[in-house]
Amino acid sequence: MPVVVATAQEVRARLRTPHATGKPVGFFPTMGALHEGHLTPMRRARAANDFVVVSIFVNPTQFPPGEDFARYPRDLDADARLCASVGVDLVFAPSVEEMYPPGDATWVEVTGPLVEGMCAPHRPGHFRGVTTVCARLFNIIQPDRAYFGEKDYQQLRVVTQMVRDLKFPLEIVPVPTVREPSGLALSSRNAYLTPDERRAAEVLSRALRRAEEAYAAGERDPAALERLAADVIRSEPLARLQYVELRDAETLTCVPRADRPVVLAVAAFVGPARLIDNIILGP
Ligand code: PAJ
Repeated sequence: MPVVVATAQEVRARLRTPHATGKPVGFFPTMGALHEGHLTPMRRARAANDFVVVSIFVNPTQFPPGEDFARYPRDLDADARLCASVGVDLVFAPSVEEMYPPGDATWVEVTGPLVEGMCAPHRPGHFRGVTTVCARLFNIIQPDRAYFGEKDYQQLRVVTQMVRDLKFPLEIVPVPTVREPSGLALSSRNAYLTPDERRAAEVLSRALRRAEEAYAAGERDPAALERLAADVIRSEPLARLQYVELRDAETLTCVPRADRPVVLAVAAFVGPARLIDNIILGP
């Protein structure tokens, strides 16, 4: 079993030797409720680094009021076993007080186009919470590489921007989205779904594939591609569309034509779960 520690001080003690000997440290931040979508990036980290740290922390600051912070699934023992199964060296599972001690008063916030569209208007304060916790985790662990899933594409772009702007000496490694054979992107929030809702949730990836087919056939009009995907999601009675947006894959700004790499991103509620998915379209 990997060592599980709860304080920054213990992390620093465990990492003293790898850091002192210049051994590459890989880091994968998570909120737990681990599944194959987490295990694949962990295996990537295991293969490329001498020491692998996984953090498990349901970060309260990234849940806007009314979201599922309280009922987010938590099972540290099961998560630690899964970490062991892929050879993780150290699990950092801090308390809220450890990450945000009383009197805490510092935020880290990326501004501008990266946080103006897609999930940002629907989850006020979410990305500020993500960048604040990631900055703290990077400072504690001081990894050489940090792994982020493309499933949360906007998060990946926002954290990459923060790392560049604050000059964290680490590389962000993107990991492709892990899907079920049906196309459904793996997510901790899939645990909220009944069997019927799970089937209905497949509509997100189906919608993206429908737009991808049109793109492959030459469609380059952003509104047309968005409409195709939206129509597929609206055809599923158990799904409630929140947004479909086509954006520049790098800057997340709107584009007049999909003639450069773009991301087509969707968010929809299925039952109690807010699910997201995306696809990159490009030359
Ligand atoms: P969480 O939702 O637990 O996700 C942790 C990491 O796993 C993220 O980088 C996410 O993109 C990746 N991931 C989740 N499902 C995936 C899938 N199906 N395929 C590929 N990667 C997948 O994202 C967070 O936690 C938090 O915001 C965090 C970064 C830990 C900050 O609190």
